[in-house]
Amino acid sequence: MEVIILQDAAEIGAVGADAVAALLDRKPEAVLGLATGSSPLAIYDELARRCDSGTVSFRGARGFTLDEYVGLPAEHPQRYRNVIDEVFVCKVDFAPGAVQGPDGLAADIPAACAEYEAAIRDAGGVDLQILGIGTDGHIAFNEPGSSLGSRTRIKTLTRQTRVDNARFFGGDVDAVPTHCLTQGLATILEASHLILVATGRQKAEAVHQLVEGPVSAMWPATILQLHPHVTVLLDGAAAQRLQLVDYYRETYRSKPEWQGI
Ligand code: GLP
Repeated sequence: MEVIILQDAAEIGAVGADAVAALLDRKPEAVLGLATGSSPLAIYDELARRCDSGTVSFRGARGFTLDEYVGLPAEHPQRYRNVIDEVFVCKVDFAPGAVQGPDGLAADIPAACAEYEAAIRDAGGVDLQILGIGTDGHIAFNEPGSSLGSRTRIKTLTRQTRVDNARFFGGDVDAVPTHCLTQGLATILEASHLILVATGRQKAEAVHQLVEGPVSAMWPATILQLHPHVTVLLDGAAAQRLQLVDYYRETYRSKPEWQGI
């Protein structure tokens, strides 16, 4: 796991966008895993700028989102399918229909989850997955206690996640759905490269557990320790509980230029 501590969101955006751009350069038909939430926005904004200026194109690429609330009406602005459209997809040049997400309105939820797994598999799997992390250590919506071998399925959101996400629902925690569909931890682990972004002090404990804690369903993100290619992009506040912070900084400073992330 590579831990990179950067100055601010702008630097995180540039490093993350470099990785996406390098992938699209060598594989224009790449499959991207797209997270919602505020953490990846700097990367999406930077990619939108580069797409505008013609240095990167998503024309041949495909995308899969991580998760979705159950039961939000199709036109609801917080439905993740609409969120990802608004913050990223509509700002770049994906072909129509190239980005899909799990169907939180499906009548048959288990069937919809199985179809989503099959769609990712049929696309050849995710080349690069962008991730955020919850304050309780969830990735996508795999809350504490999630099976480390889980696949796409329905989950009940924790109170803490609903409180954290109430800011997107006018501060009203009761307006946050109680259930979601989420790629499982085993699904996420099948991506070739994972880039996890975390900023701010409120993420410091989850980041410490992710990087330095024991692998445990209590901190679902710790499963990433088993993946051979994970890059963690942090600001100083999110890194403040890391035990080996000086080592991570030194490693990045002295990294061979040819190496990339
Ligand atoms: C949400 C999403 C996750 C996201 C996380 C952190 O609940 N389901 O995919 O990574 O919480 O969100 P943020 O980046 O806004 O802190």
